[in-house]
Amino acid sequence: MKYRFPKGFFWGASTSAHQVEGGLINDWSEWEKKMADNLAKQPEWWKRNGWDENIFPEMRSPNNYISGLACDHYHRYKEDFEWAKDLGHNATRFSIDWSRIEPKEGCFDEKELEHYLNKVRFLRDIGIEPFVTLWHWPLPLWLSNIGGWENKMTIDYFARFCRKVVEKLDDHVKFWIVLNEPEVFMGQSYFLGNWPPQKKSMHSSWVVLHNLLEGHKKVYMVIKNINPNAQVGIAKHNIYHEAYRNSWWNRLVKYFYDWRDNEYILNYINNYQDFIGFNHYLHDRIDGWTGKNENKHISDFGWELYPESLYFAVSELKKYKKPIYITEHGLADMDDKNRRWFLEESLKGLHRAIGEGVDVRGYLHWSLMDNFEWDKGFWPRFGLIEVNRITLARKPRKSALWYKEVCENNGF
Ligand code: FCB
Repeated sequence: MKYRFPKGFFWGASTSAHQVEGGLINDWSEWEKKMADNLAKQPEWWKRNGWDENIFPEMRSPNNYISGLACDHYHRYKEDFEWAKDLGHNATRFSIDWSRIEPKEGCFDEKELEHYLNKVRFLRDIGIEPFVTLWHWPLPLWLSNIGGWENKMTIDYFARFCRKVVEKLDDHVKFWIVLNEPEVFMGQSYFLGNWPPQKKSMHSSWVVLHNLLEGHKKVYMVIKNINPNAQVGIAKHNIYHEAYRNSWWNRLVKYFYDWRDNEYILNYINNYQDFIGFNHYLHDRIDGWTGKNENKHISDFGWELYPESLYFAVSELKKYKKPIYITEHGLADMDDKNRRWFLEESLKGLHRAIGEGVDVRGYLHWSLMDNFEWDKGFWPRFGLIEVNRITLARKPRKSALWYKEVCENNGF
């Protein structure tokens, strides 16, 4: 075997509650209902992004933009995790939905806590290590009504909610991810105004990001007090900024962008993370002020497929001297024409980074199954497992079978 990974390496895939569970009532679900008609009428925007409404006619249907039953993972999690097991996975990442646990301020739903407890028990029973995310974007309605993350009190509410969850699941969970991509949330929801609550304010963005990061720190302490052996981290989305032709100007711009996009948050919480959870999708070849990518291959989503990127981006984390888990990495590829190639080439780079001393201990692909891609809805297909939108039947894609070999052999 040419690419053998370290002993005990975690292999698997990720999901998040709102994208797969179904049946949720939170700020996102309410926003979707209001916005679905508008979202279904944006051909100009689709064209600009290289999306083809002829290939994905669902784009024109308001229904596409409503999470609704999603993949009904809430009721089918056993089936889904059995699939993961069949596909050779020994780890999985999923998130807890806050609005299920605390639908009204201070009222915690024991039944829903039990639901997640059963989930992690089930994973343990079948030998899959759970990586549990405590917040992957949506908020309970009562909280968004008082300003969500813009309101400082949310820090304490968040800590209280996390304490409940961690106390309940602690015996079965070792790896906790407090926040998913706080900067992406801040950017989309408070700076660009694309996602709920659709603000466009520099000031609000700043406040939201800092409340999130203070929330992270607080929850880190909460978890450590409950169980000092728990491993706590973040899922941080880092971009690989490449200084084109290595020119001094491009290097200077890279230096600034790296700080802004990649390092600021990791530095801020550096003493409050036991590992780095690393999400990676984007490469940005800087030439002047902007990225000029070659875009030789692109995904259904219009993102460049540049597998070399994983090697460079993960290597840049070496200086933090912490264990690293890849908590998301993947592509929208309905026909599964690029997934295997992209995975294979990316994993070669990951293997190289490990050989050069980068302490990577796991790889979780995005996503275990096709799901609800936020304001794009269901048309982008990120899944190793295909989900039929009408019957909700699951079927592994071919690339998932190749990945299974990798997982089972711990290399390829
Ligand atoms: C990440 C999100 C995840 C999914 C992927 C495609 O930024 O964390 O939920 O939407 O992008």
